[in-house]
Amino acid sequence: MTEQKLLLLISGRGSNLRAIQRACQNGDLPARISAVISNRPNAAGLAWCREAGLATRVIPHQVYPDRASFDQALAAAIDDHAPDWIILAGFMRQLTDSFVQRYVGRLINIHPSLLPAFPGLHTHQHALHAGVRWHGATVHFVIPELDAGPIIAQGIVPILADDNPETLAARVLDLEHQLYPQALRHLLRGDCVLKNDRVVWQRGYQSPDFSGCNPGGSA
Ligand code: GAR
Repeated sequence: MTEQKLLLLISGRGSNLRAIQRACQNGDLPARISAVISNRPNAAGLAWCREAGLATRVIPHQVYPDRASFDQALAAAIDDHAPDWIILAGFMRQLTDSFVQRYVGRLINIHPSLLPAFPGLHTHQHALHAGVRWHGATVHFVIPELDAGPIIAQGIVPILADDNPETLAARVLDLEHQLYPQALRHLLRGDCVLKNDRVVWQRGYQSPDFSGCNPGGSA
């Protein structure tokens, strides 16, 4: 299968980015990261990219008067690399409708909750507060609505009696690092496609199983 080009958008730490880069390097993902763009110049993930030899670019959102002009600059920077897929990996900006439309079907996000529960920030705290028994992460196509869109894969973790937001966040993040590369692998291979605003799995394939306490579940 031909190697596909990924462009990653980050705002911070970049641990999902590192998991995706690892999967590209060890052959789990038939892709290469063509560039990483951040809206924050001091994002820790950028320093890691530079050391890893990945092309980086900063588009600082503060210098743009509004969302539309930031998104235009972002789109121009993305298009310079002609990526097959645009991967949000902790990119903490709400995107305009026209930006989303431009990349519809190629724009993917991971969110640390079982969507549609707990969109937005502080998902672990919200899950604990709501008293739910299960929490997790979701990989989905991006639509204009924040943290919503056709779901490609979900993984779940149990909420333990002594969990606090930090312990829960750590377990969900571990899960994300396995879920995101696997979901992308299916997507890049064409095992599932977006049809009429839903993710449809081709015959013989199904969403990866990340159920229960085994985040390494089957592909
Ligand atoms: C991850 O938990 C990701 O799911 C979340 O930001 C974190 C980024 O961590 N994304 C969102 O909340 C999007 N709404 P990372 O920078 O270490 O990958």
